Amino acid sequence: MVLFKVSRKETTPFGDQKPGTSGLRKKVKVFVQPNYLHNFVQATFNALTAEKVRGATLVVSGDGRYFSKDAIQIIIKMSAANGVRRIWVGQNGLLSTPAVSAVIRERVGIDESKATGAFILTASHNPGGPHEDFGIKYNMENGGPAPEGITDKIYENTKTIKEYLIAEDLPDVDISSIGVTSFTGPEGQFDVEVFDSASDYVKLMKSIFDFDSIKKLLSSPKFTFCYDALHGVAGAYAKRIFVEELGAQESSLLNCVPKEDFGGGHPDPNLTYAKELVARMGLGKSESQVEPPEFGAAADGDADRNMILGKRFFVTPSDSVAIIAANAVEAIPYFSAGLKGVARSMPTSAALDVVAKHFNLKFFEVPTGWKFFGNLMDAGLCSICGEESFGTGSDHIREKDGIWAVLAWLSILAHKNKDKLGGDKLVTVEDIVTQHWATYGRHYYTRYDYENVDAGAAKELVAYLVKLQSSLSEVNKIIKGVRSDVSNVVHADEFEYKDPVDGSVSSHQGIRYLFEDGSRLIFRLSGTGSEGATIRLYIEQYEKDPSKTGRSSQDALAPLVEVALKLSKMKEFTGRSAPTVIT
Ligand code: G6P
Ligand code: ZN
Repeated sequence: MVLFKVSRKETTPFGDQKPGTSGLRKKVKVFVQPNYLHNFVQATFNALTAEKVRGATLVVSGDGRYFSKDAIQIIIKMSAANGVRRIWVGQNGLLSTPAVSAVIRERVGIDESKATGAFILTASHNPGGPHEDFGIKYNMENGGPAPEGITDKIYENTKTIKEYLIAEDLPDVDISSIGVTSFTGPEGQFDVEVFDSASDYVKLMKSIFDFDSIKKLLSSPKFTFCYDALHGVAGAYAKRIFVEELGAQESSLLNCVPKEDFGGGHPDPNLTYAKELVARMGLGKSESQVEPPEFGAAADGDADRNMILGKRFFVTPSDSVAIIAANAVEAIPYFSAGLKGVARSMPTSAALDVVAKHFNLKFFEVPTGWKFFGNLMDAGLCSICGEESFGTGSDHIREKDGIWAVLAWLSILAHKNKDKLGGDKLVTVEDIVTQHWATYGRHYYTRYDYENVDAGAAKELVAYLVKLQSSLSEVNKIIKGVRSDVSNVVHADEFEYKDPVDGSVSSHQGIRYLFEDGSRLIFRLSGTGSEGATIRLYIEQYEKDPSKTGRSSQDALAPLVEVALKLSKMKEFTGRSAPTVIT
């Protein structure tokens, strides 16, 4: 067994290591500065405390983006030096974010070991490559992201750090082949175990869904399917689950080979960035020559996000979670005993609220950020949750789960079609959504993103809206001057959340303008960007009349959009006459 020594290295703080909504995300050129990653990792160990770190089993892996392989070796050496007992690495350093959560919660290693946390190496849906983004976040024993108490401590530590520990002479571990490599240090044995990236996750999915019924659906010649991993880590799971387990054709998979730079693309599953899939599904600018598949889906870089499409049809994420919740008990074995409750983030449309009311379910509205759902789930208050930002999931893990969402939709389709597979027409994604609107009403919804806006200008816009919000008469005067056909704002505030489980309060979570007819305008700054500021504007309108639920959302929302842009003085503050992305 190779022996290693522990070195204490002097270092000085960096001022910019405050973790955002989902960990620390920066350009690769920032991360490769000497000691930059080291400082953050040591600050994390110090925040966790030596007591928790010594003897621990930690997972280290991610979406495979550029710099991951180097980062993994650094974290292994620092873990050894900090007294960690075992590091678990997915083969080639690949584990999707949901798979990490599953591994922490479910995997039992040699000596009956269980992981108590993980470093996840990803910048999620941000592009990768030498000139793009890298990221790191820490997940806890429940499989969910570290709570603010810990991330604040990490940040405080990064501001005062003076040294870090590293086993410099530990040789690099071969993470391309499965197996255990053992070393001996001052505190005894240290193991690095490389394991198959998919098997724990596949096992979990098989315990949740009825794979046989999905298999029957996929084998029907009338059902065609397409999955786009945008060259993210989802590809490693898509092949195993959709092709090997469920029998889909290999040609159903698009961009399913994980790449360090995501093939030069932007691995964000939305109508703007998932171009190839969008075209294949018949939603592109020009009509495709071949008949589009019945069902299409995409994932982001680390496979926690999802986009669901039908033939020439887009399912908004806010509708998606509502539809999954409405059908889960019937279509998904994991939920057959009923739902404990449902939750959505504040800017997500109220489609889920209507379902919750209909089934008399517990319902929660939390700030943006998956971590807020974790507490509810740990307390047994929530089974299914979702966000407008293409995140959907359940209490099977403590992260959102892109492949889970696809399997949920396939389960619903399989359930609705179980007596129809021999007939001439299947129930389609579009049928399911329009039927849902007919029953529950429709929440027209759109989001405008203004990316990479000058940070000062974004702050001013927010300050302006906060001030304006306090005078409803002023707000309504402006609105009436723009469109007389838009209803009145009856309430406006800055969203604040008190966690019902631990009582913690999160303030300044976005500015809300709530209208008399149930419409909402919401403004907030993104917490995940790595450059400048991103302003998000969320626009929503509820239509209960079934004869009016079939409009294009652009048409239906045009008056509210006009009001939102004028109300916020978007152009004056940002200099932008159009958003960079509309979803
Ligand atoms: C990440 C989090 C999500 C959150 C999203 C918001 O993906 O995991 O829970 O909804 O960021 O991003 P934003 O850029 O709007 O802060
Ligand atoms: Zn992600």
